[in-house]
Amino acid sequence: MTPDISLATIIADTDLPCCIYNASGPRCSTEEELHAIGESVAGAILSKSATLQKREGNEKPRYADTPWGSINSMGLPNEGYEYYAAFAAQASQYDKPYFMSVSGMSLDENVKIISDLENYEGIAGIELNLSCPNVPGKPQTGYDFEQSRHTLEAVFAVTTKPLGVKLPPYFDIPHFQMMADVLNDFPIAFVTCINSVGNGLVVDPATEGVLIKPKQGFGGIGGDFVKPTALANVRQFYTLLNKNVSIIGCGGIKSGQDAFEHILCGASAVQIGTRFMQEGTPCFERIVSELTEIMQKKNYRNIEAFKGKLKDYQS
Ligand code: SIN
Repeated sequence: MTPDISLATIIADTDLPCCIYNASGPRCSTEEELHAIGESVAGAILSKSATLQKREGNEKPRYADTPWGSINSMGLPNEGYEYYAAFAAQASQYDKPYFMSVSGMSLDENVKIISDLENYEGIAGIELNLSCPNVPGKPQTGYDFEQSRHTLEAVFAVTTKPLGVKLPPYFDIPHFQMMADVLNDFPIAFVTCINSVGNGLVVDPATEGVLIKPKQGFGGIGGDFVKPTALANVRQFYTLLNKNVSIIGCGGIKSGQDAFEHILCGASAVQIGTRFMQEGTPCFERIVSELTEIMQKKNYRNIEAFKGKLKDYQS
């Protein structure tokens, strides 16, 4: 990193040495993978979304790369929340915070997990996943505004830890306002926009079939095509949410320029999903260096210098 340029940021009242880190999902399910993120230049470590019990997830193949990104229907394979909670003790060796993603299979599960996390030190914050599109028969809570409110009432009653939410993408202007009205009634620390665009379908003309096995091929879409939707969600929630809520951009970030655009729209940090899956931890160093170069050219010394400062159309 160029010494006079800082990519540091603050999320959930915690300092991150760098605003770029992993999205919950790819390469963050095992201790080994979490250590690899710890050893990289990523500014935080975020776990795979945890459920109460270990889960095998959906049938394979359940992830495929495409020319423009990825499709997945993982189905929340994970080691169970106690595994990721215990990792907090190991994460303390790194000079970056450890966040835990939680995605209980029911409201009761979320409440049980989140209340139990009170017993663990070293978790800087909880990212409550309201948006997994891949568990058959389980709707995305974030698309049900009343259920989202109900969930937040229940989980905030049992936690003292900073808590944020990972949202699905919204596409309709009134829906942004409806979700913002729910979130603004709670002491939300951060909002991550966006999870994959749910239930897309990728067709292989050669085989005349789908690319992944679960759910007749339907799965969450990530990568290049979701970036405009991700930017729109970051911008809308940056504008509509209480000013103390940090926005974390996620969706279509594979270069320093993509990270720069997310921050311009209002992101305080950015998470890398598909590209991290494809490239592994070296992607963090590359994106850091590309973002630093852009900042150097524009004479920005830190991300606050341009965060949220997206301009209206100028002729
Ligand atoms: C999955 O495990 O199915 C992906 C998680 C998510 O999209 O929230």
